[in-house]
Amino acid sequence: MATTNDSFVPGLEGVVAFHSAIAEPDKDGGALRYRGVNIDDLVGRVGFEDVWSLLVDDAFGARLPVDISFPAFSSGDVRVDVQASLPLLAPARGFGPLLDITDEQARDHLAQTTSATLAYAARSARGDRPEVPQSMIDGAPTVVERFLTMWLGEPTPEQVRAIDAYWVSAAEHGMNASTFTARVVASTGADVPACFAGAVGSMSGPLHGGAPARVLPMIEQTERTGDAAAVVKGILDRHERLMGFGHRVYRAEDPRARVLRRTCQELNAPRYEAAAALEQAALTELRERRPDRPIETNVEFWAAVILDFAGVPAPMMPAMFTCARTAGWSAHILEQKRLGRLVRPAAVYNGHPPRTPENVVGFG
Ligand code: ACO
Repeated sequence: MATTNDSFVPGLEGVVAFHSAIAEPDKDGGALRYRGVNIDDLVGRVGFEDVWSLLVDDAFGARLPVDISFPAFSSGDVRVDVQASLPLLAPARGFGPLLDITDEQARDHLAQTTSATLAYAARSARGDRPEVPQSMIDGAPTVVERFLTMWLGEPTPEQVRAIDAYWVSAAEHGMNASTFTARVVASTGADVPACFAGAVGSMSGPLHGGAPARVLPMIEQTERTGDAAAVVKGILDRHERLMGFGHRVYRAEDPRARVLRRTCQELNAPRYEAAAALEQAALTELRERRPDRPIETNVEFWAAVILDFAGVPAPMMPAMFTCARTAGWSAHILEQKRLGRLVRPAAVYNGHPPRTPENVVGFG
C-alpha cells in the first residue's frame, strides 16, 4: 500500500487491521459479547475458566491446568514480577515458536501460560508470608479460588464472587492496546510467553491498565465529606478529568460498568453507596457542562470498587487486570497464528533529507 499522508491515521484510531470472530465492543448499543454471548449473561452464571474456554475454543467446558509456579523475580510489584518472569517459561517448558508448532500445541501453551501467569501473580502478591499448604490449593475447585487461595490462604465466598465477576467482565475487549501488542508479537511467530510478556508491558501504562487505583481517592473523599457534588465540582473546576468516566469506543454506558455495578450492589460492597452517589453527581455535572458530548461511566470506576471490596490493594490492581485479560490474549494469539500474516504497518518519513555523515552533529 502506498505510504502517503492521505493514509495517515494517528494512533490507528478506527483503522481495521483484522477480521476477528472473538469480540468487538458494540459502541452505540453499549454491549459487549464474547463469541456472540452478552457479558450480562455470563457474569455470575459462568466462571472465568469457562469464559477462557469460550473465548479460545468457542465452547464451554475446557479446564486450565493446575499450576503453582513461583515468579522468578521478586521486585515488590506484582505486575513487574509477572512480566519479567514470563519469557523464562518458554525455555523452562520447551515451548517452541508459534511458527514451528501446531495449533493444538499452541492452544496447550496458551493454557499453560495462562495458568502460570495467575500463579506468578498470586505468589508474588503473597510475598514473604508463609506458604499455603498444598492440600488447600489442590482443594480449590475453580481457577479463581485457586488464585485466591495461593494469594490469601482462605478467601471468603464474597471475594471469590467479586474476583470472578471482575475477571469475566474484563476478559476481552477487542483490539485494545495490549491485545494488539499480543497479536503483533504473535504475528512474528514468537513463542506464547513472549506474546504475553509484550502484552503485559503494553497494559502497564496508566492509559490502559492503571486507572482503577486513581478512582479510589475520589470515593474516599466522598466518604469523608459526604458531599459527592462538591467532590465532582472541585475536580472539574480544576480542569482535571473524572477518573472512571468517558471512553474512546463507547458513547453509551460501558456494559462492563453496568455488570460490575450490579455485582457490587448484590454483594453489599461497603463503598457501594458512596460510589453510587459520586457516579450520579458526576453524570449530572458532566451532562450539564458537556451537553454536546456523552461522557458515561467506564469499567474502571466500578472495577475499583469491586477490587477494593475483594481486598485488592491499589498497587495490585493492574496485575488483576493482567490475570483477567489472559483469556482475550490467548484467543487472539491463536487467531493470529491461524491467520499467519506478519503485522507491519508503515510510517510517513518526515526526517532529514538524504545527507552524508559529515553533516551529522558529532562526526569525527
Ligand atoms: N472527565 C472530564 N472531562 C472529560 C472526561 C472525563 N473523564 N473524559 C472526556 N472529557 C472531555 C475532555 O476534557 C475533552 O474536552 P474538550 O473537548 O473540551 O477538550 C472531551 O471530553 C473529549 O476528550 P477526549 O480525551 O478526546 O475523549 P476520548 O473519548 O478520546 O477519551 C478517555 C477517552 C481517555 C478515556 C477519557 O474519557 C478520559 O481521560 N477519562 C478519564 C480516565 C479514565 O477513566 N480512563 C479509563 C478509560 S477505560 C479503559 O481504559 C479500560
